[in-house]
Amino acid sequence: MEKKLYGITPSGEEVFQFTLENENALVTLLSRGATLDKLIVADKNGVKKDVLLGFDDLEGHMTRSDYQGVAVGPFANRIAGGRLNINGKEYILPPNEKGRNLLHSGGLYTEAVWNGEFEGDNKVVFKRHFMDMEGGFPGNTDVEISYTLEDDGTVLMEYKAVSDSDMYFNLTNHAYFNLSGFDGGDILNHKLKVNADGFLPVDEYSIPTGEIMSVAGTPFDFREFKEIGKEIEADFEQLRFTGGYDHCFCLKDADKGYRLAASVIDENSGLALDVFTDLPGVQFYAGNFLKGTIGKGNKPMNKRCGFCLETQYYPDSPNKPQFPSCFVMAGESFYTKSAYRVYKA
Ligand code: GLA
Repeated sequence: MEKKLYGITPSGEEVFQFTLENENALVTLLSRGATLDKLIVADKNGVKKDVLLGFDDLEGHMTRSDYQGVAVGPFANRIAGGRLNINGKEYILPPNEKGRNLLHSGGLYTEAVWNGEFEGDNKVVFKRHFMDMEGGFPGNTDVEISYTLEDDGTVLMEYKAVSDSDMYFNLTNHAYFNLSGFDGGDILNHKLKVNADGFLPVDEYSIPTGEIMSVAGTPFDFREFKEIGKEIEADFEQLRFTGGYDHCFCLKDADKGYRLAASVIDENSGLALDVFTDLPGVQFYAGNFLKGTIGKGNKPMNKRCGFCLETQYYPDSPNKPQFPSCFVMAGESFYTKSAYRVYKA
């Protein structure tokens, strides 16, 4: 366990880096963005690999980020038109994507500097108070995001929020993985399995249409392990709209609570990733928009050199009454948990 000063933001806020380590993994976390910064595990040859894309310094996180490793909230993914209707009152948040969507809440949680503290010997808790209308969202809100490194190397992420306003909460982590290491080339040979029979088709602006499409017979069928690259270039409208996979999968057993959502295997390193969650969805994003920005080790993060599995409620669900609701009443506690486990397959 170690806590050290990582950097100071232009506005003078100190950002700390926290390290958790056991025999299976080493994790570093940053208080800016409650960020999952590094996850280092030994591969099949015993070589230690950092399997997360990211940056070596605060400046990288602040100026070149595509949300690498950060916590996202209060509402991850997209809200159509930035329109949030709460009990008949409409909040219009300034769109930050294609002039029409609100993506990742405009970076409200991501760009915040959180108060971090160790709890016990394997957990870091990040806390932040958000004022009513901060970032355009209603409610004085206390949020807690914690990371626990479990004995088997699992990184458990827990999210808590309580607000004095009714609100929609959808919190996630936006880590990009490359199981061959952050400098391991593209992830097209990684094999993915998702515990989902359906996914959410989107319009050309990446907003879910509101339907659920069966994965059967489509490039979205990951019910058995399949290489991410196998059909990513298929002539399929949903892939054309998004330039590759960037869709929310509707996880099975939504009523069963915490369960395995998706797994990835990389034969090159011999490492596997399991993603667990109690949430109904997982956004699988194949890193299609990465365009060579410089990251860790001064290496460019090129298109599809990392993938994300962002556990979440369905995108734009506040505007889609048929989707599972993440509406939380004032004073009620929001709680959700997800985990990443990287291990030798
Ligand atoms: C999410 C979105 C993607 C992209 C990334 C950030 O995963 O679904 O479309 O915006 O965030 O680049």
